[in-house]
Amino acid sequence: MSNKQRKIILGVTGASGTLISRQILLDLQAAGVEISLIISEWAEQVSHHETGITWKEWLKNQPGSICQEEWKNMASKLASGSSESDGMIVAPCSMGTLGGIAAGISRNLIERAADVTLKEKRPLILVPREAPLNRIHLTNMLNLSDAGATILPPIPSFYHKPESIDDLLCQISARILKSLGIISDHLYSWRGEEPSEEP
Ligand SMILES: Cc1cc2nc3c(=O)[nH]c(=O)nc-3n(C[C@H](O)[C@H](O)[C@H](O)COP(=O)(O)O)c2cc1C
Repeated sequence: MSNKQRKIILGVTGASGTLISRQILLDLQAAGVEISLIISEWAEQVSHHETGITWKEWLKNQPGSICQEEWKNMASKLASGSSESDGMIVAPCSMGTLGGIAAGISRNLIERAADVTLKEKRPLILVPREAPLNRIHLTNMLNLSDAGATILPPIPSFYHKPESIDDLLCQISARILKSLGIISDHLYSWRGEEPSEEP
């Protein structure tokens, strides 16, 4: 399937990492993916705290139209398995939303769309951001992994020799997109190295 035909749901929650979700959104757009964006109330607060602007202000300055779905709207098409999608990313994923998805309680559209994604056996990529992790976090992640989700924390790599925060964000985003089969221009893959002669 080409990138152009893809429809991906992007849920953004109130964990730290607004810039990660914005990079993912830009990379999905660049790949020609149709995006349904859901932003939690706390993601709005964290966005303002971390970047000085709200999501609304940031989105206003982005080219192209993005379909935004209301976080509280359980009547959205995304709340039903009958609506088509090729998968969902929740990035960053708070421990609260992670727990809600693990418990299957669908308290808002992000949790419901994630629940639907799992029941329809579509790819669900969760990008949890918390440190350190307690037993409840780890148990929830294990249960979600058993249910078919991919747990992909935004852990940076350094072998591509990043020189800026942007470099780190691009590589994290590229790894997340790759797990949905979307290859972004930013993806750096380690191709091995001949053993050094030096001890
Ligand atoms: C500045 C800020 C940073 C936060 N960072 C995290 C975080 O990294 N991980 C996390 O699980 N919660 C974090 N929280 C707490 C969540 O925002 C809170 O649990 C919220 O209820 C999550 O709701 P949501 O999942 O519906 O967005 C943070 C809150 C604030 C204000």
